[in-house]
Amino acid sequence: MAEEDVLKFIAGNGEKIVIRLAGCDDSEEIISAIKTNAPDRSYVLMELYGTKPESVKKYICSMDFNKNLLLVAAANNTVVGALSGIQMDGGKRPETSHILNIGLHIVTAYRGLGIGSQMLRFSIDWARKHGFKKLEANIFTTNKRSLHVFERAGFIEEGTRQKRIRIGKQYIDEVLMGKVL
Ligand SMILES: CC(C)(COP(=O)(O)OP(=O)(O)OC[C@H]1O[C@@H](n2cnc3c(N)ncnc32)[C@H](O)[C@@H]1OP(=O)(O)O)[C@@H](O)C(=O)NCCC(=O)NCCS
Repeated sequence: MAEEDVLKFIAGNGEKIVIRLAGCDDSEEIISAIKTNAPDRSYVLMELYGTKPESVKKYICSMDFNKNLLLVAAANNTVVGALSGIQMDGGKRPETSHILNIGLHIVTAYRGLGIGSQMLRFSIDWARKHGFKKLEANIFTTNKRSLHVFERAGFIEEGTRQKRIRIGKQYIDEVLMGKVL
């Protein structure tokens, strides 16, 4: 793997973290890292979240990695975070193909250590290098930490969609975040 495809840093707990491009071989570890309860839900591999592991794996293994980004953060060779950057509308609409939609998820024990922020930084560089002009993310209004992390990376709030997500009997508003590159 080229040097520019890997980022190493020391997390807030002193552990060495490796952020790197991921692929088909990482599917199982990514799936177990992003599997979580609905209130904590993130948009990693968004439309496939919650479906069967086999279908997520199939999707990862068929991704075009020139147009889509998949990153993992590993501590001691174990995946502790994943970021997906999916080209808008699957790249099928020329009008929106300049947009990369970001989903980010860190396992509970590794949150608040700077890993999400570093992964986001990595994805911004990658998007620029691959010719994208805009990043977008959808974040629940209740997810203050995530809003803070994306804002600090230069995303701005573009609007709020009300009752956008239903979880059981609860409806959650969602903030549209965007960063023009
Ligand atoms: C949101 C998430 C990706 C952030 O990654 P992370 O590695 O935990 O974030 P970092 O450690 O890089 O940064 C955390 C920042 O949030 C701040 N923060 C923590 N809790 C907060 C809160 N309740 N409100 C506001 N800011 C908060 C921290 O102070 C820190 O900011 P600082 O560095 O300016 O002090 C991660 O917590 C996560 O996976 N959450 C669950 C899934 C999710 O929400 N995904 C995002 C939607 S796509």
